[in-house]
Amino acid sequence: MIILIIILIISSIGWLYILCRLLNRVAAMSDKLISLTLFGGIFLLFTPFLFYFWFLKLKVFTSGFYFLNSGEILNQSPLSSVFILIGFFAFAGELIRRKIIEKLKKKSIGKICRLQSTKNVDCSNFFPKKAPWKYIYKIALLIPGNKIRKLFLHNHKIHLQGKVNCQIRIVHITDVHFVERISGEYYEKMVATVNECNADMILFTGDFLQNSDAVSKLKPIFSKLKAKSGIYFVCGNHDIWHKKIHEKTTVEMLEKIGFVHLNGIIEKVQINGDKIYVAGTEQPWIKDNIAGNLAAIPDDSFVILLSHTPDNIHRIPLRNIKLILSGHTHGGQNALPGLGPLIIPSKYGSAHASGYVKVKNSLLYISRGVALHHPLRIMCPLELACIDIDSIK
Ligand SMILES: [Fe+2]
Repeated sequence: MIILIIILIISSIGWLYILCRLLNRVAAMSDKLISLTLFGGIFLLFTPFLFYFWFLKLKVFTSGFYFLNSGEILNQSPLSSVFILIGFFAFAGELIRRKIIEKLKKKSIGKICRLQSTKNVDCSNFFPKKAPWKYIYKIALLIPGNKIRKLFLHNHKIHLQGKVNCQIRIVHITDVHFVERISGEYYEKMVATVNECNADMILFTGDFLQNSDAVSKLKPIFSKLKAKSGIYFVCGNHDIWHKKIHEKTTVEMLEKIGFVHLNGIIEKVQINGDKIYVAGTEQPWIKDNIAGNLAAIPDDSFVILLSHTPDNIHRIPLRNIKLILSGHTHGGQNALPGLGPLIIPSKYGSAHASGYVKVKNSLLYISRGVALHHPLRIMCPLELACIDIDSIK
């Protein structure tokens, strides 16, 4: 009986992987489907377990406890056996796939990137103070593995091969999802933490706001950000959606406080005597000519590309792109202990959940972001990245 229940649980998780891979593909196709998929996903998580519960009940009802006790259940119902076996092999296959991806990542990234230090900011004082959110966050904090208590600032050093000398410090911020139920002090603290990095550039990869009417509240906080060679951004799917329904857009507000919008364009930046390019794309939500613009600058240029979705690494010619910064996936928002995240709005699933990915000569960094608008982030800590880039001819 116990062995059968274990097999059914493993098989259920296998079916979860199958359904979530389908969901991830749907979520990667359209921003309108993302919310639907994420909500649908919550219900979907229970379906394999419900199916097996129904199956067990049915067997108990029709055949009594005899089959369950004897372990002959698989022989008695060929169709159910096929379902159980598919789930079982899907579980094993996905675990092997994830292990291989992890090993390949370590092998290709290990020599290029090094984590130098980590700081953290306590977020517990910034949680909602009013009901019902106050109680929702309190209950959510009781769930083991929920990582909303701390915002981490990771300092990485990366060595990139290039034909341009370049030693710069950038700070990458993504998926702020500014929301009024979270105290403004959280965003103030984030800005102060970023300013302490004394970065050459601050680079945003979208999803600034959760609700568009909070634009005016974000402005005085973000105007305090400081970077020696500028602050650059692209929009995320949330910002683009708000832009379509409201006159006062996030883009207007950010441009007013001096941020540079990289909607398919490239800016030349002079840092410590080194010339680099910073580019941005909002594809697939907004069409642009980023590929043409990249082709117009020399092959040996040093380009940092901002892209809300990490999937653009497979859509855009990488010729002179050394580093791509992305967000969008929130690290999957929630992950199963030991099994990783399930619902990731990327065509490439868990491979694009978070961290570094190497594709040809380009390095992609996917941040889990700083969004505190949802009270659940199981095994997905909040993060800011301070990256020291070291490229030598
Ligand atoms: Fe987001």
